[in-house]
Amino acid sequence: MNKKVLVTGAKGGIGSSITNVLLDAGYRVIAAYSPGNKEYAIEWFEKNNYSENQVRLLPLDITNTQSCRESLESLLQDEGHIDVLVNNAGITRDSTFTRMSVEQWHEVINTNLNSLFNVTQPLFSSMCERGNARIINISSVNGLKGQFGQTNYSAAKAGMIGFTKALAAEGARFGVTVNVIAPGYTGTPMVEEIQPAALERIKAQIPLRRLATPDEVAGAVAYLASDAATYITGETLSINGGLYMQ
Ligand code: CAA
Repeated sequence: MNKKVLVTGAKGGIGSSITNVLLDAGYRVIAAYSPGNKEYAIEWFEKNNYSENQVRLLPLDITNTQSCRESLESLLQDEGHIDVLVNNAGITRDSTFTRMSVEQWHEVINTNLNSLFNVTQPLFSSMCERGNARIINISSVNGLKGQFGQTNYSAAKAGMIGFTKALAAEGARFGVTVNVIAPGYTGTPMVEEIQPAALERIKAQIPLRRLATPDEVAGAVAYLASDAATYITGETLSINGGLYMQ
């Protein structure tokens, strides 16, 4: 039987690459998308010629605790189990702190951090019962170093790292590993939204002098999901072209 992975934000810049890399590795992918984006999700599915055996589209409001619980319990009944969870969905609402609205603050904390509670908790017990499962959280270089204009995003992405270490401690005795990937600036629509002058300033600071490709991030997800990574847990893997070295 194919292994099963749930990817949030699956049709996004990095999420699409994660989906394709895991399909190549033989997974069945449950592709979660924001319910408001149904039309785009279907378009993405059709454009990529996925079959229903390969990819199952799942509308999931990752900011809503109750609806996540209901959707994911019913998903587990249908699918039997999930081997790998990739918490990848994320948004930006960049602004200097003095100008940041409370809405910009909460939207980012809800989508990028509170979603970890909402999506992971309904699946975690079943992963522990079955053992040999993986949770991979997609954070950011900016959760490690802090970024001008991103107090909300940096806080959420740093919070993901603390969450990961704590859950890794709890999952370990069941064989559930929990890790973080911290991508740097990656060639996706999210980065294309940055004002050109700000992006130029950032690029100039990257030792490898270019953005990451989504496939460079997705390759690391495949590695952490694989049997080569069974002894890695609570770890943060940076993929940032040297922008921030710890
Ligand atoms: N450090 C110090 N000072 C900085 C700075 C920095 N990194 N960036 C800008 N400043 C300074 C500017 O030089 C400017 O100074 P002056 O007023 O003296 O000219 C001042 O701060 C205001 O800067 P802006 O003109 O940029 O201000 P703004 O209000 O027009 O824009 C902003 C603010 C929207 C936050 C803009 O700076 C911006 O887009 N910054 C980039 C934020 C960013 O990196 N977002 C990442 C999105 S992608 C992502 O998040 C994926 C991932 O995980 C990596």
